[in-house]
Amino acid sequence: MRRLLVTGGAGFIGSDFVHYLMSHTDDSVTVLDKLTYAGNRASLESVPADRFRFVEGDICDAVLVNELFDEHDAVVHFAAESHNDNSLSGPVPFVHTNLVGTFTLLEAARRTGVRYHHISTDEVYGDLEFDDPERFTESTPYNPSSPYSSTKAGSDLLVRAWVRSFGVAATISNCSNNYGPRQHVEKFIPRQITNVIDGVRPRLYGDGLNVRDWIHADDHSSAVLTILDRGRIGDTYLIGADGEKTNRQVVEIILAQMGQSSDAYDLVTDRPGHDKRYAIDWTKLRTELGWEPSFRDFESGIAATIRWYQENEGWWRPQKAATEAKYELSGQ
Ligand code: NAD
Ligand code: DAU
Repeated sequence: MRRLLVTGGAGFIGSDFVHYLMSHTDDSVTVLDKLTYAGNRASLESVPADRFRFVEGDICDAVLVNELFDEHDAVVHFAAESHNDNSLSGPVPFVHTNLVGTFTLLEAARRTGVRYHHISTDEVYGDLEFDDPERFTESTPYNPSSPYSSTKAGSDLLVRAWVRSFGVAATISNCSNNYGPRQHVEKFIPRQITNVIDGVRPRLYGDGLNVRDWIHADDHSSAVLTILDRGRIGDTYLIGADGEKTNRQVVEIILAQMGQSSDAYDLVTDRPGHDKRYAIDWTKLRTELGWEPSFRDFESGIAATIRWYQENEGWWRPQKAATEAKYELSGQ
């Protein structure tokens, strides 16, 4: 039985990955999570106790991290400050967690030789023009725009340097925008779903025509497990599922599915430096590792996500008012 350490496992995608591991492997799993505003213990409530341990702590704590590396065979690193808007209003924790935290884990990986998988984002590549026929590939140059994406880019570069200089057994994946259950209400899709539940009109930044490339979190999890099991050490893999949509299209789908008129949204102050478009070419993952996404129908994935928020108000309600109060300050 493999012993896996998952950082950030109380967050949106980390908790999805833990649930995915429980139903698709016999690995035992330890989650290391600081339980910031974005971490939620309730996201792991139903995980079977006999194969699971939760450690509350900071990935920047070298003593704790070293202790945990000694007890595990592999580490999958999800923990991060993850929200672009927060990185614009307060970048300090982004530098700390995303850069110093990753450095701390890499040093432990160097000392112990433990296999390390690094979770990253397509935002490290910057953005694409709306009419660009190319999509991001593993060889697209790094060109991040925001404090969030620049700290993620820096963390990827640390991993690459630790592989080359010290022979750390690492892989990296860069994934597009995830959706699904248990995503914090600060993020675009859950914010709009919970706004509609509350009788508030969805808010689109700018003209609403920015494009994101959506993938279900379960597909992100299955891709990460594939890379952990069969990825080539030192390599980077892009994860996507051909899910490009304008923000306006996404809101229209949510409104229609929730019985509202498709123009019942407001355009609000744009995000400074707002990336126009992301799009992932995931050919390498398909051809080299044989991975395919399972969720190909965005509308039914969104319908299931809406149902989850309708049925789990106790999970998101405690965060909603404080999140909206923050947006109020920036006119969004
Ligand atoms: P999230 O904000 O929902 O969760 C982050 C988790 O990390 C939380 O549980 C938080 O408590 C924990 N954490 C934060 N700082 C920590 C620290 N110093 N020590 C220990 N734990 C800490 O984030 P998410 O959306 O699930 O993203 C997870 C990872 O996936 C991130 O690395 C992010 O960059 C990457 N990613 C996200 C997306 C997306 O669409 N959300 C897409 C591609 C990649
Ligand atoms: O591409 C991967 C990235 O996707 C991840 O690395 C990040 O962790 C994750 O947060 C996400 O970043 P985005 O900035 O793309 O996601 P967000 O949910 O914040 O916004 C999605 C789009 O919707 C973006 O164009 C901004 C817009 N938006 C967002 C909110 C919260 C709105 O129009 N209205 C809103 O209320």
